[in-house]
Amino acid sequence: MQKLKNKRVVVLGASGRIGFSLCERLAPHNEVIGVARFTDEERARALNQMGVETIPLDLAAEDLDALPDDVDWLFIEVAYQHGAEQHPELAEALNVHLPARALMYFRNVQGVVFASTGNVYGLPGRVITEEDREAPIGVYGLTRYAGEQVVKFFCREFNIPTVILRYFYGNNEHYGIIKKIATTLQAGELPPIWMGAQINCIAHEELVERTLRAAPHAAVPAFVMNLTSSNPYPLSTIIQYIARELDITPPPLNHIEERERMTLAALTPIQDRLFGPTEISLEQIVKRVCKPLRKSKSIKA
Ligand SMILES: NC(=O)c1ccc[n+]([C@@H]2O[C@H](COP(=O)([O-])OP(=O)(O)OC[C@H]3O[C@@H](n4cnc5c(N)ncnc54)[C@H](OP(=O)(O)O)[C@@H]3O)[C@@H](O)[C@H]2O)c1
Repeated sequence: MQKLKNKRVVVLGASGRIGFSLCERLAPHNEVIGVARFTDEERARALNQMGVETIPLDLAAEDLDALPDDVDWLFIEVAYQHGAEQHPELAEALNVHLPARALMYFRNVQGVVFASTGNVYGLPGRVITEEDREAPIGVYGLTRYAGEQVVKFFCREFNIPTVILRYFYGNNEHYGIIKKIATTLQAGELPPIWMGAQINCIAHEELVERTLRAAPHAAVPAFVMNLTSSNPYPLSTIIQYIARELDITPPPLNHIEERERMTLAALTPIQDRLFGPTEISLEQIVKRVCKPLRKSKSIKA
């Protein structure tokens, strides 16, 4: 299927990890409008240099009227996660009300890509697929699940082709679960129980590439897909790879029932059928994430 070309595209969350990379990929072939608060002005400048028009807006509080509505595609890459339990009103505003307001405002677009999360499955304690029932937990999970329902509703109501991507665990040297585990091991500790016993890991650039490839599959009713590595990895394997890269001996990982119960891990049969299995291996991700960590360790030494 064709990638987006010669389109007018709005990216909500353009300064974020995924939104920024999407703008970077879309800008050479499309007219791109990037929206965020741009708390880091440098991000806006970098986007402008790529030819992206940036519009600063607080999407939790301000009207969308400042945005053009004659656009072809809409990417929603915004969510309120950290602090959701303490500030449920902000989680509701960004995770539920914003998708509703955006789909109403941009109801004439050719397609919508909505970034959701594996957290809509809650903590199943096993490996799941899109066939499994969602069972979100806590304010974050619940508001993301509610956001999906809102998107599904407006997709049908206004006949807007939509794809809902449930991302799990993007990684690069700047962010992600591999970096978190590596720094925990460097501090001589084991990864916390909440990380579970099996974890998916996808390279950031592959997640972005597959987001773009998923866009033309937008449909009514909304097309829903897990987007992560094609299979999860045992935490013990991840620890072993990281320890090798960092040249450390990690504490032993004993079997703990609670860790098993906290597992949120996925298979991605729909993604694999459309695009084939993910190509960047766990080993490649670990090498890349650990390289700067190894350097910083030797600088300190
Ligand atoms: N990356 C992953 O591995 C992953 C995994 C699961 C789900 N997801 C989902 O994918 C989407 C993008 O993730 P990400 O990692 O790119 O997130 P991120 O780096 O945290 O980016 C979030 C974006 O939202 C903007 N934003 C936050 N509050 C805003 C507000 N009130 N008004 C306007 N803009 C606001 C931020 O910019 P400003 O601060 O400048 O406003 C930023 O551009 C999110 O829905 C996230 O839940 C990502």
